[in-house]
Amino acid sequence: MPDATAAIEVSHLVKTYGGVTAVSDISFTVAQGEIVGFLGPNGAGKSTTMRILTGYLPATSGSVHICGVPVATQPDEIKRRIGYMPENNPLPDDMRVSEYMYFRGRLKEIPRRKLGPRIDEVLEVCDLKRVRHKIIAQLSKGYRQRVGIAEAILAEPPVIIMDEPTIGLDPHQILIVRDLIASLRGRMTVIISSHILPEIEMTCDRVLIINQGRVVAQGTPAELRQEIFGLSTYKLELAGNVEALLPAVMDIDAGLQISEQSEPDAGGFRQITLTTHRPDDLGEPLLRTLLAKELRVRALTRKQPTLEDVFLAATRRSWDTVAAPIAPTRSKPGSPESQS
Ligand SMILES: Nc1ncnc2c1ncn2[C@@H]1O[C@H](COP(=O)(O)OP(=O)(O)OP(=O)(O)O)[C@@H](O)[C@H]1O
Ligand SMILES: [Mg+2]
Repeated sequence: MPDATAAIEVSHLVKTYGGVTAVSDISFTVAQGEIVGFLGPNGAGKSTTMRILTGYLPATSGSVHICGVPVATQPDEIKRRIGYMPENNPLPDDMRVSEYMYFRGRLKEIPRRKLGPRIDEVLEVCDLKRVRHKIIAQLSKGYRQRVGIAEAILAEPPVIIMDEPTIGLDPHQILIVRDLIASLRGRMTVIISSHILPEIEMTCDRVLIINQGRVVAQGTPAELRQEIFGLSTYKLELAGNVEALLPAVMDIDAGLQISEQSEPDAGGFRQITLTTHRPDDLGEPLLRTLLAKELRVRALTRKQPTLEDVFLAATRRSWDTVAAPIAPTRSKPGSPESQS
């Protein structure tokens, strides 16, 4: 039974193109109001999954429900519930921005009297007012991307799906898009795919990492760090009786271990790396304890694996654990480059 309260429910989704398995048994649920990031190397199956979710591509098997409505049998109903910005964001070059928005708004059945004010609002939000009378062919890439985003949110659908909305944007425009996506938080459910990992980390509540057509890890960035790496690491620069260090910090966490230690420098300071399985931040109690034991502390930092580290480790792990390649055309577990 589909979960009618979930915004998106994907169950055992499979898509094969001829002999190539692009999506291999993907299942996940997205709660209403959640912002979820899709990560994966080139050819992982992100765009294929998004196209199936939006009703633009039929699945080979499995099911997708959007707000409880099955995509396979009610694609028109689904298009009313989803705003979709496809990969490469195809736009009609010969239309003016405002004409295009009007045209799309009518297709989306926004009543004529509401459409004008809504277009004004969306152009304002996407910072497109200055170019509203421009021919789309004359827009820079960043502005074209923003037109795609404006179109996706135009009819205020409950679910927004954007395939690499920030690709090719300059840092300033990435900020604008990030704020824009953040402004949808709580009002709309959003799935975005991206290769810009800090972007995903800042914008998304949860991340799905996809490789070779499978979900290989999912969770909040913090959960993924814990799942993939398990360890938190603290880098210290200490002088004094370093032998007293471990006994002193055992009260904070009996699992703390010294994993690296350098020789003292000219000032008597050693670089020390401590590791623990505890996911919470121990920086403050560590510092307090070390100072109380009269150790001299010149630096204390918590080293967190970046989402990039997580992504690389999760995809590597999935290649290691896949017994056989999923696509008969690939004779060995592929590298990202070999699958584009
Ligand atoms: N129309 C198609 N016909 C045949 N194979 C396809 C088709 N579209 C995609 N594929 C294959 O399906 C797999 C998944 O492709 P998909 O475009 O979903 O990946 P992606 O994760 O979006 O990658 P990227 O990061 O490069 O956009 C790839 O192996 C790709 O070559
Ligand atoms: Mg893609």
